[in-house]
Amino acid sequence: MENKRNIWLDADPGIDDAVAFAMAFANRDRLNICGLSSVAGNQTSERVTGNALKLTVFLGAEDVPVVQGAVLPLLREIVPAGDIHGKSGLGYCELPSVEKKPAAENGILFLRDTILGLPEGEKMTLVPTGPLTNIALLLKTFPEVRERIDEIVLMGGSGAGGNVTATAEFNIWADPEAAQIVFGAGLPIVMCGLDVTQQCILTREQILGLYQSDKTVQHAYGEMLRFYLDSPSYKGSDGAAIHDAVTVLYLLHPRLFAGKRMHVEVDCSEGLNRGMTVCDMRRSQLQKPGDVLVLNQVDLPAFQKIVLDTLASYDAVSE
Ligand code: BDR
Ligand code: CA
Repeated sequence: MENKRNIWLDADPGIDDAVAFAMAFANRDRLNICGLSSVAGNQTSERVTGNALKLTVFLGAEDVPVVQGAVLPLLREIVPAGDIHGKSGLGYCELPSVEKKPAAENGILFLRDTILGLPEGEKMTLVPTGPLTNIALLLKTFPEVRERIDEIVLMGGSGAGGNVTATAEFNIWADPEAAQIVFGAGLPIVMCGLDVTQQCILTREQILGLYQSDKTVQHAYGEMLRFYLDSPSYKGSDGAAIHDAVTVLYLLHPRLFAGKRMHVEVDCSEGLNRGMTVCDMRRSQLQKPGDVLVLNQVDLPAFQKIVLDTLASYDAVSE
């Protein structure tokens, strides 16, 4: 049997972060989910940490340790995305409150200890789906973890055009300095940016189908995702992009995706292009060490089927 891959989720849940969790927790036969850290982004640290705790319990993964990471970006102010994810961060969905508490006081230290505590020869894949604050802090505070990191499969950035500004994607824009530290670290990175994630939509019909379901998990996700359809970004559109789920689906089904290797730098200025990922696509600059695999294609019907089937699998178990 193939060895399970050790992964660490780092997120700001967040509606699509919650979908990414559902994809991961349903595949624990293939993924060894070592823990989950929260990072301020879509909502305040307090709210996203609460959501992470609730989601692990809701999805039957109560044993996955949750820790609170950075409360603020490295240098910038926090600007939550309440218009896209709602006041709680989970759209119209209200999950029951839980007794579960964060597994440690200091999330970054806990992550470092978890990585270094892996059995000899094993490595960790980091899966960040929020601003890169925690990962930057980890790499700068504990550089000894570098050699135990297999790959960073992140949602963030764009090779062409942004969603929070004309040129920047939200996660990178929210903490550009952290993103530059991570992209500049020389570690293997897969960038699931807008080039691919904006293709990865669930249609309005599919979302409303979830909402109308009388099954617990599918209905809850319908309540989350329906909020997207009412948000300024998606009002009147045929569906909504499920950005963060791409990271986990890439890990599980890499053949559904295609991309190109290139050098990526982050614009850390205060100007028009703050948070832009500058992707160098010049042929002469391709294939250098430290390059990032920038995904840009997906098999959309397969993506949609896996997301919907996986959400349905939770309700099949609880029936
Ligand atoms: C990213 O921004 C957040 O609002 C989403 O959760 C996703 O991680 C998309 O730009
Ligand atoms: Ca996110």
